[in-house]
Amino acid sequence: MLKDLQQEILRLKRERDVCILAHSYMSEDICEVADFTGDSYALSVKAKSTPQSSVVMCGVRFMAETVKMLSPDKRVVLANPDAGCPMAEQFDKDIVLQLKESMPGYTVVAYVNTTAELKTVCDVCVTSSSAVKICRAIPSDDIIFIPDINLGTYVKGQIPEKNFKLLSGGCPTHARMTKDDVLKARAAHPRALFLVHPECRSQVTALADYVGSTTGIMDFAEKSDAEEFIIGTENAIVEHLQYRCPEKKFYPLSKDLVCHNMKITTLADVYNAVCGSGGEEIVMEEGMRLAAVRCIEKMIEYGG
Ligand code: 13P
Ligand code: SF4
Repeated sequence: MLKDLQQEILRLKRERDVCILAHSYMSEDICEVADFTGDSYALSVKAKSTPQSSVVMCGVRFMAETVKMLSPDKRVVLANPDAGCPMAEQFDKDIVLQLKESMPGYTVVAYVNTTAELKTVCDVCVTSSSAVKICRAIPSDDIIFIPDINLGTYVKGQIPEKNFKLLSGGCPTHARMTKDDVLKARAAHPRALFLVHPECRSQVTALADYVGSTTGIMDFAEKSDAEEFIIGTENAIVEHLQYRCPEKKFYPLSKDLVCHNMKITTLADVYNAVCGSGGEEIVMEEGMRLAAVRCIEKMIEYGG
């Protein structure tokens, strides 16, 4: 039944000239029908070069908006319209405009997990895999980093020579993790390496053997000679790694490391979106798109 639905999606996407992009937090059955799976940065870069006339984004809204900004002539559909990122909604334009006014000369660096509207008043976007590289590369030494205080704290720690103004936003899923969760997991699996996403708090990342994006964590685990790993990001990554490396063992840092927004998209949603009977087509006013895409293009320019 599952395989039949997957086969039908594969057939339909060829027939209808649809590219399926899936964030690494999607379930295995969705990743199997995707043309490309990756972290937020890789998806943004890929969005520019897909040859198909339509894109179905299996992820959250800001990811589909990013694809639309970079490919305005394509039909871009968010597979499940209810999939949003709570962090992306935490700040509005006015807060950023007020900050810019009170801190002239600062560059506003926005995590890509922000709305298109917020991006219109920011200077450059970053993702978790590119934030350190981009903050180092931009000419300004004075940076307002929005909205994730945990990613911002991690980046600031890697670039002590620059001056960061952080705001107190963040990912509710990753920010839930504590030092106690790490100590418990380490006690239960003493031979395991601890790999963590920089959206976790500094008390958690400070105890890690590796800090990186979803793709970074997966690459690290696949290439490592170690045999056991505690995974400090959304639990879909534990599932993917266990498929890819059946000889290794992967443990979730916590059973609570679940992003319900990422879990909401099902294979049936993907089918409906590819058919044209479901999902939501992203429509963006051209003035807003042009104002917002600048900081995505800067991200790709500095991120390489
Ligand atoms: P990355 O895709 O950059 O690893 O970020 C994870 C995330 O939370 C996306 O919403
Ligand atoms: Fe947003 Fe966090 Fe979910 Fe990523 S994991 S989509 S940052 S809430």
